[in-house]
Amino acid sequence: MNDFLWVEKYRPTIVEDCILPQSIKDVFQGFVDQKELPNLLLSGTAGVGKTTIAKALCDEIGASYIMINGSDEGRFLDTVRNRIRTFASTVSLTSGASHKVVIIDEADNTTNDVQLSLRSAVEEFHSNCRFIFTCNFINKIIEPLHSRCTVVDFRVKNGQSIELQKQFFDRLRWILKTEGINHEDKVVAKLIRRYYPDWRRLINECQRYSASGSIDSAILVDVADVNLDTLLSSLKKKEFTNVKNWVVQHLDNDPSMVMRKVYDSLYGVLKPTSIPEAVLIIAKYMKDITIVPDQEINMLACLTEIMMSCEFK
Ligand SMILES: Nc1ncnc2c1ncn2[C@@H]1O[C@H](COP(=O)(O)OP(=O)(O)O)[C@@H](O)[C@H]1O
Ligand SMILES: [Mg+2]
Repeated sequence: MNDFLWVEKYRPTIVEDCILPQSIKDVFQGFVDQKELPNLLLSGTAGVGKTTIAKALCDEIGASYIMINGSDEGRFLDTVRNRIRTFASTVSLTSGASHKVVIIDEADNTTNDVQLSLRSAVEEFHSNCRFIFTCNFINKIIEPLHSRCTVVDFRVKNGQSIELQKQFFDRLRWILKTEGINHEDKVVAKLIRRYYPDWRRLINECQRYSASGSIDSAILVDVADVNLDTLLSSLKKKEFTNVKNWVVQHLDNDPSMVMRKVYDSLYGVLKPTSIPEAVLIIAKYMKDITIVPDQEINMLACLTEIMMSCEFK
């Protein structure tokens, strides 16, 4: 285990320690309590805990497991089947569970052929193996796999985010305390709002900032400084490429914060008759921030629509 990286050192090892909406946690806790897993398909954006949950479930149930990464082995159709066959057919001496588990991590990075072969594997090894698939994009998983799995969607509903951020605030403060890193609470809170719901990214950034000794307001300049002047002038001149470049350069920032800033500054640069239209556009794309798979495209679409539909002073 790599103890240098905080993300690994502080990876929860039991379901109870994972920070997830209560309804989702209850589902997993139910499996642990019954010591029984169905085939699972876990979907959600990066860094929300899919791989962590897959491992924690196996550990808690006492099932021996292998983990195969879809990104690494997608090309080796036969290897995957063979590895599973060998694993499934050996008797496990240590396992307390009634079945073994094959975790196919990042299953959406495999081709349709591999997925079809995995579907057959799910059936062939049904008597002693369960499968847990994780993916970022569920629509890249073929239907026959969906239908053989219980699908758990890690997406957080809007009403739940405050509670989750609160829990992560406590966890992060505990991590920083354990590591002996001084920090200002308000800066920690800001980092959480910025990277939520990508916990991996959040912890990685904290470790990076901590290298300088503490997490304090000195890093805030880095975090929230978005200068809109060049963007506004590119929008006005309808310079699409410059707008796109600006979006790419500012991808590190929290998209809702950026849209809010754009909203605030539009009053100064748009003709008053165009402002209602701009408000509707921003509201529409802001609503999508929590569900789009790609923030760059959403942000660029928002700005493009403003550029095309609104009149500048
Ligand atoms: N729900 C969570 N609760 C606590 N820590 C989490 C959670 N999700 C992610 N993390 C942290 O982020 C790291 C990466 O999570 P991981 O499960 O690999 O994400 P992914 O959803 O991309 O598979 C974990 O090692 C852990 O430190
Ligand atoms: Mg993962």
